[in-house]
Amino acid sequence: MNFRGAHILSVKQFERADIDRLFQVADSMEPYAHRERVSKVLDGAILGNMFFEPSTRTRVSFGCAFNLLGGHVRETTDLKSSSISKGESLYDTARVISGYSDIIVMRHPQPGSVSEFAKASRVPVINGGDGPNEHPSQALLDLYTIKKELHSKDREIDGMSIAMVGDLKHGRTVHSLSQLLLLYKNITFTLITPNELRMPVEIVSELKAAGHQVIETEDMEAGLMDNDTVYLTRIQEERFTNKLEADIYRGRFRLNQAIYTRNCQPNTVIMHPLPRDSREDANELDNDLNQHPNLAIFRQTDNGVLVRMALFTLILDVTNKVDESAKEVGWYTERRF
Ligand code: NCD
Repeated sequence: MNFRGAHILSVKQFERADIDRLFQVADSMEPYAHRERVSKVLDGAILGNMFFEPSTRTRVSFGCAFNLLGGHVRETTDLKSSSISKGESLYDTARVISGYSDIIVMRHPQPGSVSEFAKASRVPVINGGDGPNEHPSQALLDLYTIKKELHSKDREIDGMSIAMVGDLKHGRTVHSLSQLLLLYKNITFTLITPNELRMPVEIVSELKAAGHQVIETEDMEAGLMDNDTVYLTRIQEERFTNKLEADIYRGRFRLNQAIYTRNCQPNTVIMHPLPRDSREDANELDNDLNQHPNLAIFRQTDNGVLVRMALFTLILDVTNKVDESAKEVGWYTERRF
């Protein structure tokens, strides 16, 4: 694909060469993300950061990624504070906001809403999550993390085994990550869910048709064995029509030090898109793993900035100019870990 001026709406638009290019650019963003250097390559550019659903990481890391390249961020959060609550259509909002921005990131609860918005936008739009449908930038940072973590253990994405755990029915991160992994070969997916929260059948069929092996189980301890990566997810309670139903599943599948040590290979990487639900009745990923060297959740969040910087530079076609307008930082920040 040609990144220049492109909307990023679905992982289906990528080929493997696009991923390689994006990850190569993401690697080159490290000195900026680590605050060793600053670039002004997007000086004067405006990001319209529109989040009509709760978000911490995605919203802030897209904003920081744009700031680190010298651009400005305009935020619209919450449907209530936007004219959408006065009955304005996505079409009108897109026409208006795209007149004020060079690029837009949008999150919205309705599947397909960001694509609809993009059709009316005069500038590129990145899907920051459209309901239970897709979350392409998360899938890219997850894949980037998997690649780095496995490389450090002399493993490849091709031929790997991954367990996905939790609410795979409503979780857009696992929908996008699975579909992105269609580009790779010979992966074993162990999908550990309550029967009612299984991965959509269309995605399972696509994985099988691409030659991957898919095991679906409700037995977490058996499912955890023999994986390179375990990817946990939260019960997406906001997607249930009957909120009480979510209570049935919350806390059913938990990973902690004892369960990990008993069932997982010693090298298994632990991932979660976050937020992890740390309330006592959920606690899907226990704090007793916080110091575990294979816990990659905070490396995932750090990698998110690199991948989002790479997306911005490629879409806005400044990748080769980032270093030209760079300088060393003048302040001192001690990063403790
Ligand atoms: C996820 C999301 O919003 O889909 N979070 C994120 O973007 N990192 C996962 C979730 O909310 O459970």
